[in-house]
Amino acid sequence: MKKLFIVLFVMPVMLALPFNSYAVSPERQDELMHLLKQDCGSCHGMTMKGGLGPALLPATLIKTPDYILENTIKYGRETLAMPAWDGILNSVEIEWLVDQLKEGIE
Ligand code: HEC
Repeated sequence: MKKLFIVLFVMPVMLALPFNSYAVSPERQDELMHLLKQDCGSCHGMTMKGGLGPALLPATLIKTPDYILENTIKYGRETLAMPAWDGILNSVEIEWLVDQLKEGIE
């Protein structure tokens, strides 16, 4: 009976959770795009072509695995002027931003 309960009730919830937590709402996507252009853009350039920080264009990012880029955004590289965004952006939002950068923003 306990196994049946787990299969019928616990499993579906466990399966559904990641899908929900991966979603970034359309409103939040707008905010993140604004942040990317204004805040990140102040160092990386409004169009991500670089400035104080390196260019964040698909061609320059393609060689670097997502998790490395995500860690750089999350924890920053303090000694190299890249601030940490941990606490401001959650992991899902950072993954979403890296996806946008790798696809290229206009
Ligand atoms: C104060 C300036 C500054 C701001 C603001 C800033 N960055 Fe950076 N960023 C840098 C610098 C400088 C580096 C290069 C560090 C190094 O040489 O390792 C960097 C590196 C990176 C890298 C790694 C690039 C690579 O090819 O390895 C990513 C990704 C990145 N930044 C994304 C972002 C995002 C996203 C934001 C906004 C949420 C942001 N940065 C805001 C200065 C900044």
